[in-house]
This record gives sequence, C-alpha cells and structure tokens, in this order.
Amino acid sequence: MTLLWKLLVLQSLVGCLADVGVLQSPVFTKQPGSIVYPVETVEKNREVVFSCEAQASPPLSYRWKLNATEIKPGSHYSLSGGNLRISHLNRDQDAGTYQCLATNSFGTIVSREASLTFAYLEHFKTQRRSSVSVREGQGVVLLCGPPPHSGG
Ligand SMILES: *[C@@H]1O[C@H](CO)[C@@H](O)[C@H](O)[C@H]1NC(C)=O
Repeated sequence: MTLLWKLLVLQSLVGCLADVGVLQSPVFTKQPGSIVYPVETVEKNREVVFSCEAQASPPLSYRWKLNATEIKPGSHYSLSGGNLRISHLNRDQDAGTYQCLATNSFGTIVSREASLTFAYLEHFKTQRRSSVSVREGQGVVLLCGPPPHSGG
C-alpha cells in the first residue's frame, strides 16, 4: 500500500518537472546546415546565411561560434533573429565550423555543427596534343601518363 502511494507521488513529481522543462527551456525549431560556397559563381555580393531558430517561453538571445570562438556581430557578421549573415565572404577568415547558441534565463542550448567550406573548380588544361599520323592498318600507341603524384 505504501509502495503504491510512493509511486503515485513520484509520478506526479516527475510529470510536474517535465512540464516545467517543456515550458521554459529553449528548443531548436531550425538548425544550421553545412554550406559549400562555390568560389567562382558570385564575385561581388558574397554572402551566406546560416539559419537558427529556437522556441522558449522567456525570451531568447542568440550567439554564434566559429571554431568554438564566439563571433562578435558587426558589419561582417550580422544577426537577424537567430540567423547569422556573413557578408563579404573571406575564404581565410570564414571557413570553419559554425554553431548557434540559444540562451534564456533557464539555460543555453547549442546547435549541431555546420561547416562553411569553399569549393574550387580547377580548369582543365586545354593544351592540344600534336597529331599523329598512322598508315591505314597499322597500330599506334598513344601515351597518357598520370600527372606527377606521390605515394602509391
Ligand atoms: C577553423 O578550423 C578549420 C579546421 O581546423 C580551419 O581550416 C579553419 O581555417 C579555421 N577557421 C578559422 C577562421 O580559424
């Protein structure tokens, strides 16, 4: 009998704690995804936006980290809601791993990691080969060696 009573009290206590959690701690509704920025496509207005959105009952504030270092918003990085906009992309400064942090008075949640990488397309060499003339019926060997490499 007493065991049943204890269980009942415990159950309602746990239920109550769960309600408090749902009401007050932040929960992500949108998390950033990784971005591969093709360097050659846009020359002038280079910018990307990482999205981040969370819900919580006391108001939230957002921060972002790049490679685990907190970002200071300014002209380069700007926040709109939870979203992080990076203007005038710079391959050396901006490549890395981004994370969104959403904080209210009950705690901070940290989003998954999203990376920003810059992609390059090397141009193929368009050098012409010199032509080879062969008599009809004769075989010919055209050499095609791999470019210089190391290992293997
Ligand atoms: C972040 O870390 C990556 C991987 O170590 C590195 O390539 C990149 O340059 C770093 N970015 C910054 C801004 O330090």
